[in-house]
Amino acid sequence: MKPEILQLSPILIPEINARLNELYTVRPYFQQTDKAAYLREHGARVSGVVTGGHTGITRAVMEQLPEIKVIAVNGVGTDAVDLAYARDRGIHVTATIGALTEDVADLAIGLLISACRGLCTADRYVRSGAWPQSPTPLAPIPLARQFSGMKIGIVGLGRVGRAVATRAAAFGCPISYTDLKAMDDVPYTVVADLIELARHSDALIVAAAADKAKGIINAQVLAALGAEGYLINVARGSLVNEPDLLAALKTGSIAGAGLDVFVDEPNVPSELFELESVVLQPHRASATVQTRTRMGEMVLASLAQGLAGEKPSAAVL
Ligand code: 8YV
Repeated sequence: MKPEILQLSPILIPEINARLNELYTVRPYFQQTDKAAYLREHGARVSGVVTGGHTGITRAVMEQLPEIKVIAVNGVGTDAVDLAYARDRGIHVTATIGALTEDVADLAIGLLISACRGLCTADRYVRSGAWPQSPTPLAPIPLARQFSGMKIGIVGLGRVGRAVATRAAAFGCPISYTDLKAMDDVPYTVVADLIELARHSDALIVAAAADKAKGIINAQVLAALGAEGYLINVARGSLVNEPDLLAALKTGSIAGAGLDVFVDEPNVPSELFELESVVLQPHRASATVQTRTRMGEMVLASLAQGLAGEKPSAAVL
């Protein structure tokens, strides 16, 4: 009999899904309307879990899965997994560390260029058919803010933060960062205090882990970033105080934002939809065929190793 796997979020690569279904009896929890009943029916026989970075798994669900040996996160963030409880139970938790670094950094730069150059506003303008009617073609769209040379402040200089820094440096951007400690292997300026970092930056790019840092981008940080400043978030919505961000955008106390992540996904505060200064993405920084394939391969390897009683090579626990 094939081992049973509980799947908490979809995998979008057909070949990975096919292999998952070949090797295991996959229980698609994420597709169920009555999830409690589904767990009661199947939970006792499940030996592994596949979930997404944002979805994670709660302690309440883990409690219904007495036999699980491994939780394979198809993502790099494990902030939505109750790690303390998993540790107590001796369950391995794995993440796709390293697989999505380049894509997430690419999107961070893409969001910043989109926000400061007004790419989405200009796209909407051309599509609306209004361009030929305008006597001075560019009059309805304000001149943009130059990206090259912007002072970039990176919040969290982990793998993604470093990959963002490499890209921004190639555009002639001076780089500063804040992290729990200074790093001696990078040529960037450390600024320990986040408000100071914001004050000295034209754009703040949030690339930190969200385990211990809820709401750190708040009204004070945004005020320090200032009316010419941009905020980019490719990490987790919970790192930003969303009401403070909305207020800052609405009053123009920052210039704009590029957001891939939100506090209550997939629900995005609808007031953001009205703001031309904001570029929005539905949490898809890692959503390329190449990266999702690599992530899927890591998930398959982690399940195989965890179910064989080994510590998976991608284990964070
Ligand atoms: C994914 C993520 O969108 O890596 C993470 O932590 O949140 C994202 O890359 C998600 O995990 C896909 O399931």
